[in-house]
Amino acid sequence: MLQVVVVCTIILTLFFTASHFKSDLWRKHLPSIPDQVPQSFRPPPSLSFKNQPPKPKPANSTLDFQEIFYISMPYRTDRQDALSLLAAVSGIKLTMIPGIDPKTIHHKAEPHMIGGNNMTATPALGCWRAHANAWKHIIDNNIETALIVEDDIDWDVNIKDIMGLWGWQLRYNNTIRWGRENVEKGWKEDCPYGCDWDELWMGQCGNAVNKERLDLHWRYSDPNGPDIGSADEGFQKEFKDIWKISGGDGMRVTSATYGPLCTMGYAVSRMGAMRMLYHIGGWHGMGLPVDNEIAFKTEDGYISGYTMTPPAFTAWRVGGSRDTDNALSNNNAPTTDEGNEKGWSKGLKSSVRKHLAQVLDKNYWKDMENERR
Ligand SMILES: *[C@@H]1O[C@H](CO)[C@@H](O)[C@H](O)[C@H]1NC(C)=O
Ligand SMILES: *[C@@H]1O[C@H](CO)[C@@H](O)[C@H](O)[C@H]1NC(C)=O
Ligand SMILES: *[C@@H]1O[C@H](CO)[C@@H](O)[C@H](O)[C@H]1NC(C)=O
Repeated sequence: MLQVVVVCTIILTLFFTASHFKSDLWRKHLPSIPDQVPQSFRPPPSLSFKNQPPKPKPANSTLDFQEIFYISMPYRTDRQDALSLLAAVSGIKLTMIPGIDPKTIHHKAEPHMIGGNNMTATPALGCWRAHANAWKHIIDNNIETALIVEDDIDWDVNIKDIMGLWGWQLRYNNTIRWGRENVEKGWKEDCPYGCDWDELWMGQCGNAVNKERLDLHWRYSDPNGPDIGSADEGFQKEFKDIWKISGGDGMRVTSATYGPLCTMGYAVSRMGAMRMLYHIGGWHGMGLPVDNEIAFKTEDGYISGYTMTPPAFTAWRVGGSRDTDNALSNNNAPTTDEGNEKGWSKGLKSSVRKHLAQVLDKNYWKDMENERR
C-alpha cells in the first residue's frame, strides 16, 4: 500500500465550474435591442456551427488553463533553472509553488491520520502540504482552472498542439459525457476543456481504470502522440489489454479518471481544488500519500474528470540522488549522476529537454553556425 513515487511538483490549472457564471455575465453586458431597430441594423443571429465544430487550435501560453503552477523544493534551483529554459523554449508561463519541508509542519496542523498511519515528518506529508497549498492558492485567488506540475518533468516540443487537441476532444467530441450520438450538446459551452471536470490527468506515471465502466473512454489520433512502444510498460499494457489497441502510433485514449498515480501533471478546476482540499487532509483526514488519496477519492466518486493515455507529461530522470526529493535518506547522498546532459524520459515523440540543444547551441566562430534569435 505504500507509496509509489510521490512526485511533488505541481502545475495547477483551475476552471470555474462553469458556464452559468459566464452566461450570467454575458447577459448582464448584452445591450438590449430596441424593437424598432430596422431589420438591417440588427446584429446577425448568433453563429451556429452548422453541425461542424471549429478546428482544433494550439493552446495558449498557459496551455489554456488560467495558470500553470509547478511545485519545487526551494533548494532545487537546478531543476528551476531547467524549467525556466523549457518554458521559454515552449512559449509557456510557469509559476512556482514552493515544496514543503515536512519538519516545518506543526503537529497540530497535521491532518488526523486514517488507519493509524504516522506521517509526521515524512516526505509524503510535505508533498501533501505542497499540493494542498496549491489547491488553497487556487481557491483563495478564484482561479478557474490551473495546471499543477512537478519540477522533474519533460514534455513534447509541440505541447501546445497536444493540449489544444485534447481540449478540442473534451469540448467537441466528448462521448463520455454526451454519448456517441450527442457530442454536439457540448459545443456551446465556453470552457477550453469542457466545463464538467474537477481534475484532468495528463501527467500520471501509472493508471488504473474502472473495469466496470470501460465504456467511458474514447480514442483519438494525435499527430504528436508517441509510438506507444516508447511509453512506460504500464501504458503499453493499458492500450493492449484494456483498450484493445494494438500498434497505435499517435493514438491517445481519453478515459474517465479512476486511479491515476503520481502527481507529475494534473489540472484542477476551482471546484476540483475545493473538493481535493476538503476530502484530502484539509478537512477530512488522510492516511496515505497525496496521489493515493486522490486516486481513492476518485474511485469513490467524490472527485471526477478525464485522463489522457499515454500522458503528455512524463518523468525526466538523470540517475542518482538528484531524482527525488521525497526520500529523506537521499537528500545528503552524493550526486553520482551525470546531470541533465545524460538524462532521459519515455513516451514522448519529441522531448523538449532533448530539443534544448537544437535551440541554444551555436558556434559563432564557425560562421555563426546554428545562430537563432
Ligand atoms: C489561456 O486561456 C485560459 C482559458 O481561456 C485563460 O484563462 C488564460 O488567461 C489564458 N492565458 C493567457 C496567458 O492569456
Ligand atoms: C510519529 O512519528 C514521529 C516522528 O517519527 C514521532 O515523533 C511520534 O511520536 C510518532 N507518533 C506516534 C503517535 O507514534
Ligand atoms: C471522436 O471520437 C470518436 C470516438 O467516440 C472517434 O472515433 C473519432 O475519431 C473522434 N473524432 C476525432 C475528430 O478525433
